[in-house]
Amino acid sequence: MNTNFIKACKGEEVSHTPIWIMRQAGRYLPDYHKVRGKVTFLELCKTPELAAEVTLQPVDILGVDAAILFSDILVVLDAMGMPLEFREKQGPVLPAPIRSKADVDKLIVPDPIEKLGYVMDTIYLLRRELADKVPLIGFCGAPFTLATYMVEGGSSKNFFQTKKMMYSEPELYGAMLDKVTECTISYLQAQVEAGAQALQVFDSWAGALAPCDFAEFALPYVKKIMTALKPAGVPLIYFANNGSTLMNLSKTCGADVQGLDWRVNLTDAIKVFGPDISIQGNLDPCALLLPEDKLEKRIAGILEEGKAARGHIFNLGHGILPETPPEKAKFVVDTVHRLSAR
Ligand code: CP3
Repeated sequence: MNTNFIKACKGEEVSHTPIWIMRQAGRYLPDYHKVRGKVTFLELCKTPELAAEVTLQPVDILGVDAAILFSDILVVLDAMGMPLEFREKQGPVLPAPIRSKADVDKLIVPDPIEKLGYVMDTIYLLRRELADKVPLIGFCGAPFTLATYMVEGGSSKNFFQTKKMMYSEPELYGAMLDKVTECTISYLQAQVEAGAQALQVFDSWAGALAPCDFAEFALPYVKKIMTALKPAGVPLIYFANNGSTLMNLSKTCGADVQGLDWRVNLTDAIKVFGPDISIQGNLDPCALLLPEDKLEKRIAGILEEGKAARGHIFNLGHGILPETPPEKAKFVVDTVHRLSAR
């Protein structure tokens, strides 16, 4: 078993800097399209054999140091009773968004085994398949990021409806977030019980918040999740996308690892997070379109800066783009391994 990923999360010695890639199972891989061509995206998430198959693709094709469960942050909303669709070109759509107390009251706090059992079944399959390979990462969306989908009913530019609820009906917003947080905690606990060996909390839209709003309306719920999952004993990763203005706050969330997007200078970030937190990141996903010599220089720069951290896990600063040639992704993985070999 290659344990470099887990070791870097804990700040222990590694034989090379581990790398995995956000959205490593996905549309840039022809192998993914082969599977996805037969089913809808949600069917893929809900069919453990297929979800496990696409999870393993980047492990075999790229040689990454960790697998991440193939699923989506939004399946938990489906389990809470919100209809969820993924439309071609439009992305996720929730046709019945949450706007009133009656809507919040209707949300159920499900037993994760009952409503999300297919995720746990995928994890069982994966742990069997991955036994001697690499660790498996489970994940969820952070409560604020999930709230944006719940209130907007899909993706959004300025999160107007979500912020309107925060500012004009803070109790309602709080009641909704409490419910999502409770679901998320039991969902992550079930993932660990099924075999997830690390957890990442994706806060994709945290960067849309002013620091004072992040402190009041997003961070407390992340802290609750981290506190509840600490006893599970697996490394906890928090990724606040576009979060460089929030680092002084997010460093208090209780995660073992902080994920960084590409907009932040790694040396500056490491100074903020200090000696007790490992870091993950942060190559611009577009940099994979650079010619190999320039790409290698970028990778070398990130590895050099990452040495100052307690532990460094190489990753992109956000999800890999569907336009990326798979050979370039493989080049990044091989280059990280070659340049960082101890
Ligand atoms: O990283 C992995 O390989 C695991 C799988 C994974 C997916 N989504 C698969 C997916 C993970 C970890 C996610 C998380 C997720 N989902 C986030 C947080 C990470 C981030 O990107 O910020 C968010 C915000 C979502 C919500 C979501 N799901 C959107 C906005 C979309 C549509 C846009 C897009 O990228 O297609 C999805 C669909 C989705 N999730 C796809 C995949 C592979 C594409 C679906 C398809 O095959 O058509």
